[in-house]
Amino acid sequence: MKTVNSIEALRAAVKAQRMAGKRIGFVPTMGNLHAGHITLVTEGLRQADFMVSSVFVNPTQFGPNEDFDNYPRTLDADAAKLEAAGCHLLFAPPVDEMYPGDQDTWAKVVVTEITDRHCGAARPGHFDGVSTVVTKLFNIVKPDVALFGKKDFQQLAVIRRMTTALCFDIEVVGVDTVREANGLAMSSRNGYLSADEKNRGAKLYRCLCAAKEAIQQGERDYMAVSQRANQELTGAGFEPEYFSVCRADTLEPATATDSDLVILAAARMGKARLIDNIDFQL
Ligand code: PAF
Repeated sequence: MKTVNSIEALRAAVKAQRMAGKRIGFVPTMGNLHAGHITLVTEGLRQADFMVSSVFVNPTQFGPNEDFDNYPRTLDADAAKLEAAGCHLLFAPPVDEMYPGDQDTWAKVVVTEITDRHCGAARPGHFDGVSTVVTKLFNIVKPDVALFGKKDFQQLAVIRRMTTALCFDIEVVGVDTVREANGLAMSSRNGYLSADEKNRGAKLYRCLCAAKEAIQQGERDYMAVSQRANQELTGAGFEPEYFSVCRADTLEPATATDSDLVILAAARMGKARLIDNIDFQL
């Protein structure tokens, strides 16, 4: 696997592959890779001939009091994992390659409506940073297919809308969440949890499964479903942020007649803010 740090070198390497008729796959990441990221690369290799991954801790998607400075930067270990997974090219630009000078103030990509609720409400500006950097990365790599984890369900929905609205000729693929044996969704931020918190953190997924089960058994009072889950999470030592039964397409609160559903949840545990979700049809 080759590693490049400049946009020019990335473009030259990808262009050569495209001219050779290869289908280009792309997995953007912020590094500190775990089995969930590796699954994206593995799935990408099934759908493309040449896999590109990026490792870039994107400053514009972090709020002023968030963990940008402390976000784990583990480039050597990440490169080794990507190479072992069969990735062909790693793009690891420094911040001033992606945002030279004051370019982060020149333009931003704003996806409306679907960003209003949930993580968008809790983290103002976060999705503007995500859609801006993903637009830049899409324009740099120009992949045929890009893969994102379904753990960040709202992020995936934002990127799908952005891709359609801005006419990117890129297939966006969502890949199932990879979980620890106890059900905890894998996340780069799980490293902020102690062993005990990791055990208790698994309760978030158990609450999602219980809520899905109740709805499948006929429960339609979605406020009551949320309240029950929030109580259980509080009892298990979480600070719940949201637990919402939503329409899977718009992420608006679901009504009793909706059948394509996702339950989205976010809760704080110790130093970590955990998010998870479960999607299903009635
Ligand atoms: O999901 C992530 O790791 C990031 O939000 C992404 C998509 C790489 C953009 O920085």
